[in-house]
Amino acid sequence: MNYDDFADLYDHQYDIYRDDLHFYAGVAERTGGPVLEIGAGTGRVTAFLARRGVAVTGIEPSGRMIERGRTRAAADGLNLNFVQGDAQTFRLEQRFGLALAPFNALMHLYTPGEQLAALHNIHAHLAPGAAFVFDLYLPRFGKMNTVRHEGETFYGADGSRTDVFLVQRHDKPRQHITTEYHADTTHIGGQLTRRHYTLTQRYYTRFEVEWLLRYAGFEAPRVTGSFHGGPLETRSEVMVFQTRAI
Ligand SMILES: C[S@@+](CC[C@H](N)C(=O)[O-])C[C@H]1O[C@@H](n2cnc3c(N)ncnc32)[C@H](O)[C@@H]1O
Repeated sequence: MNYDDFADLYDHQYDIYRDDLHFYAGVAERTGGPVLEIGAGTGRVTAFLARRGVAVTGIEPSGRMIERGRTRAAADGLNLNFVQGDAQTFRLEQRFGLALAPFNALMHLYTPGEQLAALHNIHAHLAPGAAFVFDLYLPRFGKMNTVRHEGETFYGADGSRTDVFLVQRHDKPRQHITTEYHADTTHIGGQLTRRHYTLTQRYYTRFEVEWLLRYAGFEAPRVTGSFHGGPLETRSEVMVFQTRAI
């Protein structure tokens, strides 16, 4: 999954998403670093941690996402340490005290082979006993094969307005959700331009993740249904996993 085409839209869509930031900062502060972040994107979490003095290295495959992350961080006087690479294959000399994979980053590993390759590689970059913490959304979806507008409207400095419409398709046998985004920008004067992006995510069930972790050399995880703790329940929106490298 390549986020290059997505990079321009990403910050508009997710900059306001802050549910997880204090949770990950708390984990980093309690655990100590250095911290390895998988799927760092444009540095939403990376910057939040770096601003708190956490030494964090962000692995991110998309050059365009990194570019945006660096530009944004520089404007805030931050110098983020991004490494362009894939969770399955990146190689660093350093060993980390904590690995994070915030905001569904592991949902871009589509097969058991890819998932295990990534988990083994993350494990290989951790010191013995180091923690690995990540979150995934629960498989529960809106109306399929229907154009939806979920309130995502952005206003440009040039007076333009962008509305994001989406259509989702569910491939149950593969556990894939594909979202087609249509970003319609209406310019002053009424001219309309449309950009199109496709995002496929591989969703997980709770016990599937537990087995994957155990198979890849991690302890049985603590699983909560929110960033504030509490059990995983039917109405939970996220699964938060906290484990350690054996
Ligand atoms: C939903 S975004 C989350 C970004 C960031 N963690 C955040 O919280 O804003 C998922 C990120 O995972 C990255 N990604 C996709 N495939 C990946 C892979 N194989 N290894 C590591 N990261 C990957 C994407 O490029 C994207 O930046």
